[in-house]
Amino acid sequence: MVVVDHIEYAGAGMGPGQTVVVFGAYGHTGRFVVAELLERGYAPVLVGRDAEKLRAFGQTHAGVEARQASAADAAALDRALAGAAAVINCAGPFDATGGPLIEAALRAGIPYLDVAAEIEANLDTFAHFAERARDAGTVVLPAMAFYGGLGDLLATAAMGDWTAADEVHIAYGLSSWHPTTGTLASGAVSSRRRGGRRLRYTGGRLQHHDDALPTLSWSFPAPLGPQPVIGEFTMADVVTVPSHLAVPEVRTYMSAVAAADLAAPGATAPAPVDERGRSAQTFVVDVRVRNGGSERRAVASGQDIYAVSAPLAVEAVDRILTGRTRVATGVASAGALFDAPDFLRALAPHLKVELPN
Ligand SMILES: NC(=O)c1ccc[n+]([C@@H]2O[C@H](COP(=O)([O-])OP(=O)(O)OC[C@H]3O[C@@H](n4cnc5c(N)ncnc54)[C@H](OP(=O)(O)O)[C@@H]3O)[C@@H](O)[C@H]2O)c1
Repeated sequence: MVVVDHIEYAGAGMGPGQTVVVFGAYGHTGRFVVAELLERGYAPVLVGRDAEKLRAFGQTHAGVEARQASAADAAALDRALAGAAAVINCAGPFDATGGPLIEAALRAGIPYLDVAAEIEANLDTFAHFAERARDAGTVVLPAMAFYGGLGDLLATAAMGDWTAADEVHIAYGLSSWHPTTGTLASGAVSSRRRGGRRLRYTGGRLQHHDDALPTLSWSFPAPLGPQPVIGEFTMADVVTVPSHLAVPEVRTYMSAVAAADLAAPGATAPAPVDERGRSAQTFVVDVRVRNGGSERRAVASGQDIYAVSAPLAVEAVDRILTGRTRVATGVASAGALFDAPDFLRALAPHLKVELPN
């Protein structure tokens, strides 16, 4: 892969101090992203569709600009993005918000990132905007969050100098999963869009199926150790990983306890337990790449999958705005866009990583 000269985005070129729009700012994930931008010296602009929720959230952020805009109103989106160096879309279901926000970012000529873990929406982004983003001279980065982004970075780091591999396995060892309203709504939209069927990535393509999902045992690194996981619990990594790595089999696994939490009727939202607003949930993401008889492994661990999505997204914005990317334009996943080991190591202390040398 070639490192290209970075593009000077409109009014950009220096990173901290610049204005970054957060669409869906008052949502659970949006709040973490706003806090992370402020912590890293960026000037977030709070954007959302509900004037009252926006006003209430804005009141807790003195001096931070808020602009109301609905995804259905292109003129309002243009006003919301005016003067911004980049936009992070945290408003899901992305089936409804992704297209309009990307269109607005392309009109503004600024980078677009989202935290979408909706496989169908992620596919749409690659299918509909690759050429348009190249023509507009800007970059579109879908799934820049825990699901889709982190697994892709770990798989890319594990690959090292391999240019192709037989299989990528990504196992999610979550201690629990209290889903937000947005997560449940996105899951429902994805399920509807695939006609209630399941998905797997095999033989170099996505396939629908109706098979029951197997329960397996996965040996996570100590101290977690062996845990029951649900096999073929297909996550957004099946879009991001094969978008740039030559791997015909990409499989994702979910700890059985987290899968049960997600499916439970009356699932409750994450409850904050520390000063950052993180929940008590812990995670281990164990990625194994197999090629011939060899295996390479990369592991990340931390606390709260929603909270950690903020440093992931903001690190990505920072690298794009300071020209530390491998691709300058088009639609690209995290693993394609960034120096994966360097990106992952930069996320300490939010993320503890073990990468191959
Ligand atoms: N890839 C990952 O690992 C990852 C990580 C975190 C989040 N996510 C995804 O991000 C999304 C948001 O999650 P969350 O935890 O922040 O959920 P949340 O707390 O329920 O917040 C959802 C936000 O999206 C806004 N929204 C929803 N539909 C909208 C629309 N059509 N137009 C404008 N705004 C809209 C909501 O605004 P209203 O209150 O006005 O409805 C709210 O601000 C979900 O799809 C979730 O799956 C993915």
